[in-house]
Amino acid sequence: MKLGEIPHKRHTQFRKPDGSLYSEELISTEGFSDVYSIVYHTYPPTRVLKIDKAYSVAPEIAIDKNIQHRSFLGFKVKPANDYLEARVPVLANNDVIISLAAPKEGMTNWFFKNSAADELIFVHKGNGVLKTVYGNLPFSKGDHLVIPRGTIYQVLFENHDNRLFIVESFSPIRYPKRYINKMGQLLEHSPYCERDIRTPSKLETHDEEGDFLVKIKRDGMIFPFHYASHPFDVIGWDGNHYPIAFSIYDFEPITGRIHQPPPVHQTFEGNNFVTCAFVPRKYDYHPLSIPTPYNHSNVDSDEVLYYVDGDFMSRKSVEQGQITLHPTGIPHGPHPGTVERSLGKEGTDEVAVMVDTFHPLKITKQALEIEDPGYFRSWTE
Ligand SMILES: [Fe+2]
Repeated sequence: MKLGEIPHKRHTQFRKPDGSLYSEELISTEGFSDVYSIVYHTYPPTRVLKIDKAYSVAPEIAIDKNIQHRSFLGFKVKPANDYLEARVPVLANNDVIISLAAPKEGMTNWFFKNSAADELIFVHKGNGVLKTVYGNLPFSKGDHLVIPRGTIYQVLFENHDNRLFIVESFSPIRYPKRYINKMGQLLEHSPYCERDIRTPSKLETHDEEGDFLVKIKRDGMIFPFHYASHPFDVIGWDGNHYPIAFSIYDFEPITGRIHQPPPVHQTFEGNNFVTCAFVPRKYDYHPLSIPTPYNHSNVDSDEVLYYVDGDFMSRKSVEQGQITLHPTGIPHGPHPGTVERSLGKEGTDEVAVMVDTFHPLKITKQALEIEDPGYFRSWTE
């Protein structure tokens, strides 16, 4: 990617119209050993004015060791004005924090930077713009916004009715390795390709000095930093470290004559987890096929499903925003009656996002407040 103006050679003099130098910043990952971008600021990005008192936003764990099927009603999470205070952590382990949020407002006069985690924000409801040093990225319902750690950003919403499903990953969020060729391109049999990936397009250069609040998250804490210049004072950049948007509605489902296994739904991966997208699709076309999934024991993963839209074939009653958690090794499967009901059906309009973690998830205090406590018995009811 390249946007705006950059000098012919990196690490050389690059001057403003008034003759003074632009300020080069290398934003590099895994030390200097992985993806990076080089950004040219109007002012040095280092000018800290003050740092306010840090405060904790770490998930409060209520159940540390869980092996019970659970269900949480995500739309019971109350809307909140503030973009960060709206976040309600539901499930967490050392690899990810999974949160729900219904923010009424974006950020107009402050900025956020997650220094510890890449963020995958699934937009269930809402339209707006993600603003970063890399430019503007408009988003709407169904988008996955993937924001690499270390990116200062603002989210601006068009209205107050927004619902987000957020995965913070303490490792880079990547395209599935098996879909990438040796030159780094998405392979032809991948369910999405580069054309489906949207990147920042409009670079706004804010040549502004003053007092700019950037709330920086690390180690479960928010550190409020005040900087002397606008974080989006960038005249140009190039590199391979930048946010993207990918709509679930651009995911091309892989279908077959008989039931396809969950990996065909994969969208992204990080260390010790994967994400998947379930989208409207035709059912299996073997004359005796069973469209509902089989009972299964996911022996090595905790399985989190977030229901977005449509009628879920294997469930008796599912509502928008609901999360189910099927922990490692405990079989789960279609609810009574749903197998027979599915026979002969031609397709599904279901939309859902799945996160499979390879280490157990812990349940937060807030998750228990929105739990449907009888869910683990729902196969015998
Ligand atoms: Fe499952």
